Amino acid sequence: MAQYPGLADLRRRAKKRLPLFVWEFLDSGTGAEKTRNRNRTALDARLLMPSILHGEFAPDLSVDLFGQTLPLPFGIAPVGMSGLIWPDAERHLARAAASADIPYTLSTVASQTPEDVAPAMGQHGWFQMYPPRDPDIRTDMLNRARAAGFKVLVLTVDVPVASRRERQVRSGLTTPPKLTPRLLAQVACRPAWALGMAQQGMPRMRMIDSYAGDLKGLPSTSHAGYMLRTSPDWDYLRWLRDAWDGPMVVKGVMRAEDAKTLEDEGMDAIWISNHAGRQFDAAPATIDVVEDIRAATKLPVIVDGGIEGGLDMLRAIALGADFVMMGRAWHYALAALGAQGPGHLTAILKADLESNMGQLGARRLADVRSRLCQPG
Ligand SMILES: Cc1cc2nc3c(=O)[nH]c(=O)nc-3n(C[C@H](O)[C@H](O)[C@H](O)COP(=O)(O)O)c2cc1C
Repeated sequence: MAQYPGLADLRRRAKKRLPLFVWEFLDSGTGAEKTRNRNRTALDARLLMPSILHGEFAPDLSVDLFGQTLPLPFGIAPVGMSGLIWPDAERHLARAAASADIPYTLSTVASQTPEDVAPAMGQHGWFQMYPPRDPDIRTDMLNRARAAGFKVLVLTVDVPVASRRERQVRSGLTTPPKLTPRLLAQVACRPAWALGMAQQGMPRMRMIDSYAGDLKGLPSTSHAGYMLRTSPDWDYLRWLRDAWDGPMVVKGVMRAEDAKTLEDEGMDAIWISNHAGRQFDAAPATIDVVEDIRAATKLPVIVDGGIEGGLDMLRAIALGADFVMMGRAWHYALAALGAQGPGHLTAILKADLESNMGQLGARRLADVRSRLCQPG
């Protein structure tokens, strides 16, 4: 593992092991990828002041969330069709999360169902919902997630319409993925991926597929679009709040006013996200809205978007975030190192947090708040 000391090493190896269309699906943003890149440049612009003469100490990385103490301040964000990126991705990620005791979020459009993932999952299973139109399907999804042991419901609200991901389109990827001669040529030069997929079969959105019988007369390719392409509104949110008795989080929040209203509506946390720059190319960097949202709500604040290591997590925490999520990084790790990847990434992130907290003289994550350098 010494060959892969950082996320950049895993990303480089992942790119070499994935067919182009899979790489583009995982790595790309929308438009000219300004938002995707802005997430990164805005993180780099946030400086923290080192602090000296603190003596020896082992930093405490734990964090309290939803009445529980988690050993680390980060988790795994939902990624649709993870199984296209690496065979059995959802179960590998759920297992890695269980062994690190961190949250794993399963997407509605994952390639495995809540029931598939349940045996691999630890104590912190979160279920991410893209809103189905049909109230019966909605209720059934919630029941299934609950029965499978998912404790936290995440409603994603930043995909009101489909986005154009030009890199993805250019690579020849369709929804659902169809192995055209062009894609097969890309697969032919990636034997590890090809072998894994040959054993597993081409991934599908299995939860959506399980409702195919309810959508009579629709071709299977239209299921996901038909079922989920509805923009939720505040009434929908209230309906869900009533239907789910555990912690509920709204993902995709960028405005302080919304955070305040969501608190009033009974949410349990705010998840700041711009969908990693995959939806809207004029959005601010997520890190740049953390302070305002922190000031607007007492709820725990979760943030994602371009986080590449422990130092980025400390930047987010210094600005007022309580918890950090990563999406692509876990999949770079999986594609680079297979089942060992997510555990290796967890070790990298933990070591990076510890080392940077040492530089900051921060014994606890809360101490990082006072280390922010004010701009100017
Ligand atoms: C390939 C891919 C698929 C994604 N699918 C979903 C999804 O199904 N549901 C969702 O809420 N977010 C989805 N996201 C967004 C992630 O949950 C998360 O917000 C984002 O990846 C965080 O940024 P990062 O990848 O830079 O860490 C997806 C992201 C990627 C890269």
